Amino acid sequence: MPKSKIAGIGMYVPSQVVTNNDLTQYMETSDQWIQERTGIQERRFAHRTDETTTTMAVEASKIAIERAGITAQDIDFIVFATLSPDYYFPGCGVLVQRALKMKEIGALDVRNQCSGFVYALSVADQFIKTGMYKNILVIGAEKHSFGLDFTTRGRNVSVIFGDGAGAVVLQPTEAANKGILSTHLHSDGEAAEILAMYNPGTHANYWADKNYASFNDALIGDMFMSHDMIDNAQNFPFMDGPSVFKKAVVKFPEVIVEALTANGKTAADIDMLIPHQANLRISQFVQQTLKLSDDKVYNNIQKYGNTTAASVPIALCEAWEAGKIKEGDLVCLAAFGSGFTWASALLQW
Ligand code: ACO
Repeated sequence: MPKSKIAGIGMYVPSQVVTNNDLTQYMETSDQWIQERTGIQERRFAHRTDETTTTMAVEASKIAIERAGITAQDIDFIVFATLSPDYYFPGCGVLVQRALKMKEIGALDVRNQCSGFVYALSVADQFIKTGMYKNILVIGAEKHSFGLDFTTRGRNVSVIFGDGAGAVVLQPTEAANKGILSTHLHSDGEAAEILAMYNPGTHANYWADKNYASFNDALIGDMFMSHDMIDNAQNFPFMDGPSVFKKAVVKFPEVIVEALTANGKTAADIDMLIPHQANLRISQFVQQTLKLSDDKVYNNIQKYGNTTAASVPIALCEAWEAGKIKEGDLVCLAAFGSGFTWASALLQW
């Protein structure tokens, strides 16, 4: 059975830099608070009207496809991870298929938030291993800036996130010392609501206490997104930060060790760990737990903030472009986020 290798990788971040000080114009916060709690110094925001999750993904994909030495016409499947799609439906995969004038190939969107890219990579890996596809485009992209609460009410969430996109092309390889060794996916829905955007959604919580005379009453201007929901900030992400932190620092090391153990390796064998850029404090905690030196963990949250599904491919791309990942290196990708879901992938570059 072939393994999957990353044949090409690309990234795109918008040109607009937003510093912590810039955010103080809109909310009560400070550069010091943000840096101390998250490590973030600045992030990128997409152009309000000209850039979308898909347009950023397309730019990252063009680079990944070119570096793989193929054309968009050669791609035979797309897996697109995002929580900020251009439309509520359809997903972004088909928009990439259209924008890059690809053949009428399959396009799948993955809704797994921060672990979305690693989940997407795992899905693509299975299709390569079974021989079903030969060139799969795997994307993680987000335009968070369109949907955050930039008032003081939403500051615990909105200072963390940024926009961007990363993409890889997966191809089969028979080489012994190359490719994805294994992927590991997990979830625990018990805490689904502590890092979530509740609306628009079909959950019952909101409707349970409403006494509408008839279904039609509920439909009048109140069905999908009501003024009530907006007044209660339910159209913005909610996060219980401390609870997320506590779970993340346990599950990140756990899923990394799971990948290492499955392949007869230990943390000492890792050449480069690419953690989802949730928060610099979380990455540092993971690094200490696994006793990894600074040169074996790549962080760029300082420049881009948390770009959710895009953070792993952006960090992987930057680390590779900077010459920090070389042929044959053992690379571990790991992510944790909303759901909760968490995942890892161990690969030889
Ligand atoms: N600026 C200034 N003050 C703020 C801000 C802000 N942006 N946000 C919150 N505060 C205030 C709060 O109002 C609170 O004030 P109070 O004590 O007067 O009530 C105080 O700071 C402490 O608030 P906490 O939420 O307890 O702050 P904490 O120290 O936990 O830090 C943070 C918040 C950074 C979100 C932290 O909980 C964390 O890192 N959690 C992990 C979650 C995470 O990384 N999420 C990323 C997205 S999910 C993912 O990718 C896994």
